[in-house]
Amino acid sequence: MKLSLLPLYLFATISAVFAAVLAPQNLTLQVKESVASPHGWTRLGRAHSDGGIRLHIALFQQNFTGLEQSLYEISDPDHHRYGAHLSKEEIAKFVAPHPASVSLVDGWLTSHGINESDLIRSPAKDWISLTLSIHLAERILGAEYYTWQHISGDVLIRTTAYRLPVYLHNHIELIQPTTMFTRSKGMAPILYPEEREPLGSIAPVTPFTKPHVDPSCAARITLSCIRQLYNAVGYTPRAMKKNVIGITGFLGQNANKQDLSAFYRDQLPAAVNYSFKSISVYGGINNQSLAAAGEEANLDTQFAFGISYPTPGTFWSTPGLPPWLQDEHTAADTNEPYLDWLDFILQSDHIPQTISTSYGDDEQTVPFTYASRVCKLFAELGVRGVSVLFASGDGGVGDGNADPATQQCRTNDKKRTRRFLPAFPASCPYVTAVGGTMSIPEVAASFSGGGFSDYFPRPAYQDKSVNAYLGKLHHGTYDGLFNRLGRGIPDVSAQARKFQIVWQGQRISIGGTSAATPTFAGLVALLNDARLAAGRPTLGFLNPLLYKRGESAFNDVVDGANPGCGTPGFNATKGWDPVTGLGTPDFKKLMKVCV
Ligand SMILES: *[C@@H]1O[C@H](CO)[C@@H](O)[C@H](O)[C@H]1NC(C)=O
Ligand SMILES: *[C@@H]1O[C@H](CO)[C@@H](O)[C@H](O)[C@H]1NC(C)=O
Ligand SMILES: *[C@@H]1O[C@H](CO)[C@@H](O)[C@H](O)[C@H]1NC(C)=O
Ligand SMILES: *[C@@H]1O[C@H](CO)[C@@H](O)[C@H](O)[C@H]1NC(C)=O
Ligand SMILES: *[C@@H]1O[C@H](CO)[C@@H](O)[C@H](O)[C@H]1NC(C)=O
Ligand SMILES: *[C@@H]1O[C@H](CO)[C@@H](O)[C@H](O)[C@H]1NC(C)=O
Repeated sequence: MKLSLLPLYLFATISAVFAAVLAPQNLTLQVKESVASPHGWTRLGRAHSDGGIRLHIALFQQNFTGLEQSLYEISDPDHHRYGAHLSKEEIAKFVAPHPASVSLVDGWLTSHGINESDLIRSPAKDWISLTLSIHLAERILGAEYYTWQHISGDVLIRTTAYRLPVYLHNHIELIQPTTMFTRSKGMAPILYPEEREPLGSIAPVTPFTKPHVDPSCAARITLSCIRQLYNAVGYTPRAMKKNVIGITGFLGQNANKQDLSAFYRDQLPAAVNYSFKSISVYGGINNQSLAAAGEEANLDTQFAFGISYPTPGTFWSTPGLPPWLQDEHTAADTNEPYLDWLDFILQSDHIPQTISTSYGDDEQTVPFTYASRVCKLFAELGVRGVSVLFASGDGGVGDGNADPATQQCRTNDKKRTRRFLPAFPASCPYVTAVGGTMSIPEVAASFSGGGFSDYFPRPAYQDKSVNAYLGKLHHGTYDGLFNRLGRGIPDVSAQARKFQIVWQGQRISIGGTSAATPTFAGLVALLNDARLAAGRPTLGFLNPLLYKRGESAFNDVVDGANPGCGTPGFNATKGWDPVTGLGTPDFKKLMKVCV
């Protein structure tokens, strides 16, 4: 049944609880956000009205500027507040909405029969999440939800516009999922199927203790290779009672414990009986059936936990985008996984101090309002003392080696102009973005995601390094293809090819910035261990420290480039570059800088 929208607007207007005190013009529903029919998506049928949808409502915050200032002071090694991280209660003082916003939004929701007890609020009350029927969501938002299918086959339930009464426009910043056509695809791991072998067919790698890199590392990257290459041989963690490293799992990626044991038997026999904690976020499951093991989740857990062993590990399973069937109408079909995970984690009192995420998408597919609010949540993690790492993407400056004829490097507005495609959340200035290298000596991996954000201006902490790079570019290089004033990514990099992992009982070789990120995170967890063992606070947000003091603690990568969008991409150069960032870590030198 196709409903005309007009009567619904009227209904919403009449039922608004503030009707008595507001002038009629304030009650009219007015478009809050709308998008043109998104490129690459086909509209299928109307969403089933009984289906559930989990909405996230962001209220305007009173003083994010104050929180950002705190973040930069707390993360600046020369500031007297360095390391003085804040509690969630202290953060709430900055990001809390005005009390009038809270009561107006509550009044609006309850006027539509929504029970206050069904509202889940962030600690600062600046986010509300609630699950309701599509039918009710359409009524209160003056929206029409449809199922949409992407050319890749992915399916989402979204609306191209939503409306709010005029009097709420200054109180509600955004509501999602509505207009957001983001696929949240995992950074695709790069596989080398020819190197797949059944478990047991190759001899276990003997751990090395000498501070040189074994020649076998040119063909196969193991835990031992990483420790040798990045100068971390012999470091023994001590703060296991305090320190935790966390890996996020989305899109039904399961981290398998049996595979982890097999991996440890191969590469780290002392850890063979050691496992990790699985945490379910809003109903996510970490399915331990061997056939359900995910390559991404296994790679992330095996390398992050293996490098930081015996630091305790946590793996979060957040549901979202399950295999979709035409006749299924569950709440999960409409999930927005990052927000669910952030919602969940920011409510806890103890958050793992190092968190690695190997998922992301083209920045331009994420609406600016949403990207900027989610980015602010990563700032909260930094203020809490958490080091947040994201993969910079596997497409070089854009679509990697895809055929330029497919025209992926185009703006998704009506103009469809050619443009590089930086990845989000890596482009958020409050996270550490990790790019990829390969071979020994190291050169840039050609797929290493890098470039400049079109959403976020360049943060002061990287001004000097990024300006030095831009100064070396020939005048006019890639004019119009990137934003010279944007945040540059990546910040750092690590090996990203030929990682030996165990997946579904088999040894496989795998790569991508998906491999570089948990690797770098594993080393950060060891640095946090050293700080905690010395009675110091954790490193928290890393970038201000790394750009100010860290440059000499990285192996500068000066060869290679990240082609894409029909161009040769940017070059790795001396100093920071938008291919490998500051370079790859030298753990012993970082210990001097960080601990
Ligand atoms: C925001 O926070 C900063 C830093 O604490 C403070 O100086 C400023 O007065 C606050 N502004 C408002 C409007 O509360
Ligand atoms: C609110 O609670 C009442 C009583 O439990 C219930 O009948 C009603 O369906 C609830 N409203 C919504 C929107 O869930
Ligand atoms: C209602 O609308 C009038 C005129 O547009 C405006 O001056 C007033 O501030 C509005 N009130 C609220 C509560 O939004
Ligand atoms: C692992 O557990 C098994 C069975 O309890 C035990 O025999 C073995 O020694 C343990 N290995 C390590 C390295 O702790
Ligand atoms: C776990 O994965 C297996 C293999 O894919 C599947 O058969 C099983 O139904 C899954 N279990 C759950 C609870 O989803
Ligand atoms: C990369 O290096 C090559 C060879 O030196 C040079 O021709 C090219 O202009 C450089 N590209 C950029 C974007 O700097």
